[in-house]
Amino acid sequence: MGSVTQRIDVAVLGGGAAGMMCALEAGRRGRRVVVFDHAEKIGKKILISGGGRCNFTNIHARAENFLSENPHFAKSALARFTPADIIAMIEKHGIRYHEKTLGQLFCDRSAMDVVTMLERECAEVGVRVRVGVRILSVVRDGEFRVETSEGVFRAESVVIATGGLSIPKMGATGFGYGIAEQFGLRIIECRPGLVPLVFSADDRERWCALSGVSTEVVATAGAAKRRGNFREKMLVTHRGLSGPAILQVSSYWRPGEAIELDIAPGASVMAPLLERNARRDSGAATLALRAVLPGRMAERWVALNEPSDWTNHSLAGMERGLHAWRVTPAGTEGYAKAEVTAGGVDTAELDAKTMQSRKVQGLYFIGEVVDVTGWLGGYNFQWAWASGFSAGQVV
Ligand code: FDA
Repeated sequence: MGSVTQRIDVAVLGGGAAGMMCALEAGRRGRRVVVFDHAEKIGKKILISGGGRCNFTNIHARAENFLSENPHFAKSALARFTPADIIAMIEKHGIRYHEKTLGQLFCDRSAMDVVTMLERECAEVGVRVRVGVRILSVVRDGEFRVETSEGVFRAESVVIATGGLSIPKMGATGFGYGIAEQFGLRIIECRPGLVPLVFSADDRERWCALSGVSTEVVATAGAAKRRGNFREKMLVTHRGLSGPAILQVSSYWRPGEAIELDIAPGASVMAPLLERNARRDSGAATLALRAVLPGRMAERWVALNEPSDWTNHSLAGMERGLHAWRVTPAGTEGYAKAEVTAGGVDTAELDAKTMQSRKVQGLYFIGEVVDVTGWLGGYNFQWAWASGFSAGQVV
């Protein structure tokens, strides 16, 4: 361990999207900044994001696209650094990108381009990046004393950008929550977000033979105050449900609750059976369902929901069932499969303009460690950029 204490202005703990953005902005202001990361390289989550192409923003990003105990908290940072700002940086570096769907912007080539961009921006303004470093302690004695496996650093500001708990295999740790607790900051209970849901044993028996089948649904989850509603694809897996619609509502779901699925959005599926002289039996029902659902799913649905008679009343019941299928998942696939961690450092503890702790001057929290969780589709990186930028202006 180095014995000389180094004086710096800003210690950024965590070299992900948020930490690197904060560092480069602070560096631009002439601050002496060091980024510390325990991984052997920075931005590992950026590299695996968006299937290796990094969905780096969403052009429609607004506070409404985020979950938080305080839904207004993200507004200030999101207004300070917008999707247009990250697009300008991406373009400045000649990175080609495209819109895939619903405002989601992806790199044409590789997520590596985004990591290289951040490294270059940091290097240009003199930010030092130290990887493979363990943070041993963070103590405040007037200013901060950060003890690391590479020596002691004294800094005016410490920025916690160590992310959430998702994908522990990639080096995710609860470090940031530990620091928050050490300094007496409240934490909103963490839970896996953007995560596949697992069926109960009964539903697994009913549906998992359809593993691999995908269809468009409207999925809804959550109690009235925190209700999410998404029209996107759903995928049946060998353990439960996944696909964008399910990942989206998983962030709103709480254990014990049912999610509701409209598996034939906008369609009057049973209408053909209600016509005069129409056949009314399981064959006719399956045919009608096949118009809106993949064949195997249509067959399974009818087999499981076939009425004892084929009265108008029964057909209406089947129709209702298609638009409001209630599933009570047994749980989620957990942090190993979750794209994000919902919950985190309570926003009531932070200044919305700067991300600085209200209690501890000079201590900042940015990115995923904060109780702000975006929808699927580039929103989480936009939060990382925006919160990192906001802190970078003042640290
Ligand atoms: P992030 O986790 O990126 O960075 C934290 C850094 O801190 C890491 O470099 C880590 O090594 C370091 N660290 C952790 N503990 C430490 C410790 N104790 N000491 C030192 N360093 C420590 N979002 C999106 O908008 N578009 C997308 O396409 C995707 N795709 C995607 C795919 C997959 C598979 C996952 C898991 C996640 C996504 N996301 C996403 C979410 C997105 O990756 C995530 O929200 C951001 O990376 C969060 O950025 P942060 O900088 O806050 O944390």
